[in-house]
Amino acid sequence: MTQIVRVEEIHKYVDQEVIIQGWVYNRTHKGKLVFLLVRDGSGFLQCVAFKNDLEAELFDQLTRVPQESSVIITGKVRADQRAPGIPGGYEVGVTHAQILQAPEEEYPLALKEHGVEFVLDHRHLWLRMPSQWAILRIRATVISAVREWLDQNGFINMDTPILTPAACEGTTTLFETPYFDEGVAYLAQSGQLYNEANIFSFGRVYCFGPTFRAEKSKTRRHLTEFWMVEPEAAFCDLDQLMEIEEQFVTHILKRVLKERKAELASLERDTSVLEKIEPPFPRISYDEALEMLADIREKTEDSELREQLQIEWGMDFGSPHETELTGRFEKPVFVYGYPTQVKAFYMEPWPGRPEVCKSVDLLAPEGYGEIIGGSERISNLDLLRRRLHEHNLPEDAFRWYMDLRRFGSVPHSGFGMGIERTVSWITGIKHIREAIPFPRTIKRVYP
Ligand code: 4AD
Ligand code: MG
Repeated sequence: MTQIVRVEEIHKYVDQEVIIQGWVYNRTHKGKLVFLLVRDGSGFLQCVAFKNDLEAELFDQLTRVPQESSVIITGKVRADQRAPGIPGGYEVGVTHAQILQAPEEEYPLALKEHGVEFVLDHRHLWLRMPSQWAILRIRATVISAVREWLDQNGFINMDTPILTPAACEGTTTLFETPYFDEGVAYLAQSGQLYNEANIFSFGRVYCFGPTFRAEKSKTRRHLTEFWMVEPEAAFCDLDQLMEIEEQFVTHILKRVLKERKAELASLERDTSVLEKIEPPFPRISYDEALEMLADIREKTEDSELREQLQIEWGMDFGSPHETELTGRFEKPVFVYGYPTQVKAFYMEPWPGRPEVCKSVDLLAPEGYGEIIGGSERISNLDLLRRRLHEHNLPEDAFRWYMDLRRFGSVPHSGFGMGIERTVSWITGIKHIREAIPFPRTIKRVYP
């Protein structure tokens, strides 16, 4: 019996007859030949129908089969370097074909240029395009590699709540929802605080889930709903945290480079820059970063850039700063020791320099900027209480969190990596909205 085969496995079936189940992505007709580019979810494959091999009526149907028709194709596999497709290099000589459903209307995403808003409105169809397919396949591998590395390195998966009573990353970006007699609840900005409880039982943990930020930012790096993986470790200081991060990120890169070659190639991603990345990653302090920025400002001829890079000690970096900084490194770069005033309430102060905290951001090269934010956490109860007050956070909501400093407090650290930021960097895309199947931004909750 003829086997149903997935396109990504087609190389194993040369000279055999196989069945491909999929959709017609593109069709060209040249005399006695019809070329169908068929996608089946695992790849894109050229299927060639030759008039003399098929019944006249079927061949005629194939000459007209519309884009996105669902089809079942039977045929013989041939290796041919020239055959287009993803990964390409193979084609099927059609011996039989069944058209399950052929669109009767014009397909909205016909193969031509479309505007950004138009494709976003048709995200449910846009997902079928090779670029989107490749990006989201890479995303799945990133997620698989994330879990694999953490699972193999002693981190226990702990799912943290989405409905939460308080802010973690600042009160200005909270999504609020009515919550029975309790008044309101907020969608989680981070699972970190709960993970800090979890490490006292499990040592090393991670949570991984959707994260919500009512960010007013309309940049190509911001979503209102994104996925974040947050590892947290007991008995871990800032230096140890950076070692974990660089191993983790390198593992993810290696998996993608190994398993998603065809997808990266189809996106025309220059992978040579990714291949060079190995630990250790460079580490610079916030103060050093400011010096580098001052130097860049001094040397640039571009007055607009000089304006954008204007910064004083105590200010957070914006996208232009991160872009310029990472442009100077071939690897991701750690920037540690940010001013306390721009970071969250829970960060451990720098010994002898309370205006600086033991935070670290990991900035991706090629201008991609922050993909990871992390820190050592405050372990002293009195200091934590003071910080909550300074940040106007209600002590009552943090009673349980303060208990963690009462019963067996230890130095501990953790970080959060944004999946879509990471996928944007690895795939080399310009806008984060393509790194998630159905993006949510300030201006969009449809489809
Ligand atoms: O730096 P952030 O805000 O850190 C935290 O939430 C910590 N509680 C994490 C921790 O220590 N457990 O966010 C972490 C990462 C960022 O580096 C970025 O990759 C991503 O989450 N991120 C966003 N991604 C897309 N859209 C947004 N609006 C994002 N905000 C943060
Ligand atoms: Mg951050």
